[in-house]
Amino acid sequence: MDTIRWEEGKLKIIDQTKLPTEEIILDIENIEDCRRAIKNLQVRGAPAIGDAAAFGMVLGLKEIQAENFEDFYEAFLENKRFLSSSRPTAVNLFWALDRMEDVVLKNAEMTLPEIRCLLEKEAMNIAEEDAATCRKIGENGAALLRDGMSILTHCNAGRLATARYGTALAPVYVAEEQGKRIHVYADETRPLLQGARLTAYELKEAGVDVTVITDSMAAYVMKNMRVDFVIVGCDRVAANGDTANKIGTYGVALLAKAHGIPFYVAGPFSTIDMDTPTGREILIEERPPEEITHGFGKRTVPVGVEVLNPAFDVTDHALITGFITEKGIICPPYKEGFEAALRGMKRG
Ligand code: MRU
Repeated sequence: MDTIRWEEGKLKIIDQTKLPTEEIILDIENIEDCRRAIKNLQVRGAPAIGDAAAFGMVLGLKEIQAENFEDFYEAFLENKRFLSSSRPTAVNLFWALDRMEDVVLKNAEMTLPEIRCLLEKEAMNIAEEDAATCRKIGENGAALLRDGMSILTHCNAGRLATARYGTALAPVYVAEEQGKRIHVYADETRPLLQGARLTAYELKEAGVDVTVITDSMAAYVMKNMRVDFVIVGCDRVAANGDTANKIGTYGVALLAKAHGIPFYVAGPFSTIDMDTPTGREILIEERPPEEITHGFGKRTVPVGVEVLNPAFDVTDHALITGFITEKGIICPPYKEGFEAALRGMKRG
């Protein structure tokens, strides 16, 4: 089953909070449930959040009773604000919602039923393009990988985090299709264990050789085992290449540098935010302390002790060897590289 599916006006997602022990498909029928699913990480990963939000806007249309364009647009913007407030860091959320708004604005002269149809079509396009883009990322990244190589990854940037294939894991899937055997070290990724629960789950399902390590083992593994590349995903890339990704990514990048291991970020252009000049301007989501104090139901921190729970950190662009994108591998200087690729995308 795909991570996300649109079927007869309903959004179907795999509930990622239940993996790997239970495979539950959730039917999401209204915008409130869609926002809740994004906020609670039932659907997660930057591209999948964007896909889900686009379908959330379509679900929200059911509650819009407007009879003229002005009233319709006002209610639409209210829904957009509602979904925008689900998670702050992954820029794909805002990118997808802006694409949906563009459809409304560019078709203001059409009838409201026509606009509703175009919005549903746009949400489906966003998800289909996500799958096609990830496939390209996979093809471009697979060129780096040779038979027998090992990579280390952090969090889950695989098929569960996108419409299909993933970003950081897409090169592994394509390399395997090409007959290369690739081994993956998956950091377990505290506190919510996206690496242990999700990356290991989907790689195992796909028959890829995967070893889960605790986050604190990454240095040991880099020093004593074979790690040819680190490949991670991204939630928001600033114009200069500074990259927000799951908390712990920055530490992995520092370790990779210390061990002379190339550190790649894989992601689509929808995650590159040219309006954010550097990583300093990226808003980092703070999540509830219970995710740390009550890891999976058991209290692990004494009552009354303060905890910190930023969901993401920013890796300085100087630590990044290159970006694996749908437009090829982009090397420093990143701002110029991103701008050139974006110019090519507009022309193409
Ligand atoms: O909090 P999450 O699980 O949504 O965080 C996800 C990540 O950090 C991923 O690495 C990122 O979104 C890229 S997904 C292709």
